[in-house]
Amino acid sequence: MFNTATRYGAIARFFHWTIALLLLTDLVLGLIGENTPRNAETAGQLQTLYSVHKTIGVSVLFLAVLRVIWALVQPRPVPVHPERKAETILAETIHWALYGAIFVMPLSGWVIHSAESGFAPILWPFGQNLPFVPKSDEIAHMAGAVHGLSALVIYAAVALHVAGALKHAIIDRDGVLARMLSGAEAGTPERHRFAALPPLAALVLWGGVLAFPFVVPLPEGPEAMATAAMETPVAELAAELSGWIVQDGSLSISVKQMGAPVTGSFANWTAAIAYDEASGVGEVSVTIDTTSLTLGSVTQQALGAEFFNAEAYKTATFDGEISRLDGARHQAVGTLTLVGQTVPVTLDFDLTIDGETATMSGGTTLDRRDFGMGAGYGDEATVGFAVEVATELTAQRAGD
Ligand code: HEM
Ligand code: HEM
Repeated sequence: MFNTATRYGAIARFFHWTIALLLLTDLVLGLIGENTPRNAETAGQLQTLYSVHKTIGVSVLFLAVLRVIWALVQPRPVPVHPERKAETILAETIHWALYGAIFVMPLSGWVIHSAESGFAPILWPFGQNLPFVPKSDEIAHMAGAVHGLSALVIYAAVALHVAGALKHAIIDRDGVLARMLSGAEAGTPERHRFAALPPLAALVLWGGVLAFPFVVPLPEGPEAMATAAMETPVAELAAELSGWIVQDGSLSISVKQMGAPVTGSFANWTAAIAYDEASGVGEVSVTIDTTSLTLGSVTQQALGAEFFNAEAYKTATFDGEISRLDGARHQAVGTLTLVGQTVPVTLDFDLTIDGETATMSGGTTLDRRDFGMGAGYGDEATVGFAVEVATELTAQRAGD
């Protein structure tokens, strides 16, 4: 069970091999995920792959905590060849680097997952998010850079580590590999001295990896492009109807992904409204810059050819006739033109007018199939059919 100065106990060996297996599995899953094209055929498999990846990775983190506690209360087996100074320092540096890896890798992954919304849940019941990590595309992007760079460090460290183990087994035949495999003894206890260089070198290495996204400007992700679109003045989009000028507002959509809602919004859109308070009748024309959509971590997929096809259809429009139902309750009956399809849509909303200011909030539910969106996603397993649309705005009465 326990370590001595010359052997690894069963518990230390259990941690070593279990974590090694899980970490290597996750590397492979991460690589497969990274190299799988994103389209309708692969979407479901990718969700499953990333859910498994994240679940394994989080397990590595918890095992790593236990492993370090165990290593702290146990004697550390001595280097087998302390007289080979450089080799011992290299081996120990790699050990420390690998200890760092089993924390940095899963934590950076978990930060990506916490900062983005709605993609491939961790398969466990204890919640998905880390405290202190806000939903932020920028944070997800930075953690992604750390995660990707850490993977490179791990390739190198594992390659050297395994090469070293094989050298000991095949060339030196000195029992170092057997010590970790079967708990055999190797080395002489007296000659062990603690060296500060290996942990320091590993610390500098991981410090550099963590500092990387703060120091090196990252290439812009799709989110940054959407933010740029947000800066386009809203009023450029549509010719105004006379009557009311929209001051500000929001237009959001929510769709179920693997059964869990993902909500996003259009940064750039406008509504032109004419409305007669006496009769409660009017008309509304909404123009939406589809390229300004952000939808959690699936922005890119949503903007892609299978859904909003924002490259080909940069705007969507809704034109409707407003009528008052009763009190504040209104309806706009009209058509929505999206990805070249024009479909009848009724928007239900509440409208209150207070002096010069009108406040409106409402929504509707669309069926993505009516627009031929996500035709490759024939059932609701990956992407739900229903798209909830919600909008809120305040408008100012136009001067004469
Ligand atoms: C032992 C732990 C882990 C290892 C070895 C690992 C490895 C990898 C690798 C090799 C990639 C491909 C990265 C690239 O080439 O840029 C990747 C991607 C990813 N991993 Fe991990 N991972 C681990 C833990 C986690 C955890 C715990 C989570 C989340 C809870 C996670 C979430 C992700 C995500 C979301 C991606 C896609 C990243 C992106 O597209 O920016 N990983 N991982
Ligand atoms: C799959 C191939 C692997 C082999 C053949 C292997 C082999 C070994 C051997 C023989 C030792 C003992 C060295 C000694 O007694 O001085 C060792 C220690 C160690 N290995 Fe691995 N290993 C492998 C994968 C990994 C991976 C993926 C990790 C990543 C976490 C890892 C982390 C460590 C650490 C941290 C130690 C030092 C343990 C300590 O003294 O506290 N190994 N490995």
